[in-house]
Amino acid sequence: MQVLVCGGAGYIGSHMAKWLAARDVAVTVLDNLSTGHREAVQWGELVQADLLDPASLDRAFAGRRFDAVMHFCARSLVGESMTQPYAYYANNVSGTLNLLQAMQQHGVGRLVFSSTAAVFGQPTRDRIDEDHPRAPINPYGASKLMVERMLTDAYAAYGLRSVALRYFNAAGASPDGDIGEAHTPETHLIPNVLRAALGTGPALKVFGDDYPTADGTCVRDYVHVDDLAQAHLLSLAYMDQHAGAHVFNLGNGRGFSVREVIGAAEQVSGKVVAHEIAPRRAGDPAVLVASSERVRTELGWQPKYTALAPIIESAWRWHCKPSF
Ligand code: UFG
Repeated sequence: MQVLVCGGAGYIGSHMAKWLAARDVAVTVLDNLSTGHREAVQWGELVQADLLDPASLDRAFAGRRFDAVMHFCARSLVGESMTQPYAYYANNVSGTLNLLQAMQQHGVGRLVFSSTAAVFGQPTRDRIDEDHPRAPINPYGASKLMVERMLTDAYAAYGLRSVALRYFNAAGASPDGDIGEAHTPETHLIPNVLRAALGTGPALKVFGDDYPTADGTCVRDYVHVDDLAQAHLLSLAYMDQHAGAHVFNLGNGRGFSVREVIGAAEQVSGKVVAHEIAPRRAGDPAVLVASSERVRTELGWQPKYTALAPIIESAWRWHCKPSF
């Protein structure tokens, strides 16, 4: 099997490429290296192309045969999407449309798409299932929801089979520490906590301690990046059996607060995580936890990392690498 991993130089895409290669799937990575890292492309050929440049996409597909595409290219910062919405609609919506058209021109009929919990907006129930109302509160979530709609239309008109996986909070790193999460600037909680522990970053700002949660800090559902990769591989098999444009929520179904993340990181690292309470961050819901029933029963997903400590431990190993 041949899979094109778009965004394979990025955090989740590079773990996906490694996961596929370890299971004898031939990988080609497509990336424009705008935020991805060339050194993270260790599995499969790197084709430099840009979703906003259809000619470069055509060159990437020409002369190669893919059974499926996995699409991780996106701008994905909620706050940035509020101030640069055009960039989000251009990259995430127009870019994906170009990719879908290139797939159609080159006869590729299977797609696994990275969607997000941000399509739901403010949750109206404790566990978010697939049918929870979609009401995004930022352009990032809106852009991903638009693509979900495009995939429904693409199936109806052209028969494109797809699975959209709505990630909750992707976290952790490859167990052997060769690749991990490195964004510039870093906005995500676990990397910021670990940098504060190592002293390579500033004291952590805890964005709000007056939320209606047990300890006042926000609760999130952290999913290990290798468990995300497992769900993508299962999605390929699922599409063989099931025509249609499918969606699954991808979270463990367990929530942890910012304070619990700090506590677990202190235990794992044996270091103190310097932190201070800061104002709430705009657009943060108090609690975001998935109902993972459908993805477990229908897709057969069985996450390996269900506790917080092993997820943080894997990220810690990566952060402790001298080259990091
Ligand atoms: N947080 C802090 N301090 C930090 C960073 C984060 O207190 O330095 C808090 C946030 O306020 C939030 C929690 O930690 O409550 C998790 O924040 P992240 O930035 O790590 O993750 P988000 O939940 O904001 O975002 C994730 C994905 C997005 C996706 C979103 C869905 O990274 O792509 O979930 O809501 F859109």
